[in-house]
Amino acid sequence: MSHPVAEERPTAHGDALNGLRAAIAEAPHPESAAQRAVDLLHDRFAHYDWVGIYWVDGTDLVLGPWMGAQATEHTRIPIGTGVCGAAAASGTTEIVADVNADPRYLACFASTRSEIVVPIFEGGEVIGEIDVDGSDLDAFNETDARFLEEVAALIAPLRPRA
Ligand code: SME
Repeated sequence: MSHPVAEERPTAHGDALNGLRAAIAEAPHPESAAQRAVDLLHDRFAHYDWVGIYWVDGTDLVLGPWMGAQATEHTRIPIGTGVCGAAAASGTTEIVADVNADPRYLACFASTRSEIVVPIFEGGEVIGEIDVDGSDLDAFNETDARFLEEVAALIAPLRPRA
């Protein structure tokens, strides 16, 4: 009898998802829950050097909570512009192994070498995204992508309401 091989989820990812669920449940309001989520991702994963959430606002992405060494000047990005705007336009996770080799890249930090952007969906529509910058080349892989897609599903209900 053959058994399908279950895709293995790293323990750190399972633990972080549990930590995120708890942090979100305990937070007093959605805004602080989203901040706790980016803090937790930044704290637990050494290669997540800068972690931010952008929310869709009309035809733009607007920066929500973030954690990292520096603030970014890119607090509003038109959908379609940059790696962030590309992921929002296509609804597809973007993994950029070398930001300096990607003409779409909008530079935020001199230290950034690679980036992953994961759309956040609600009702089949992109409502935001998680953006993670790494200081190493090729810092992110498909395991990060699948993990952050699960995180995105947890974060979706935290979208600020107008
Ligand atoms: N690098 C992004 C812009 C956001 S900063 O990384 C925080 C981009 O190319 O869209």
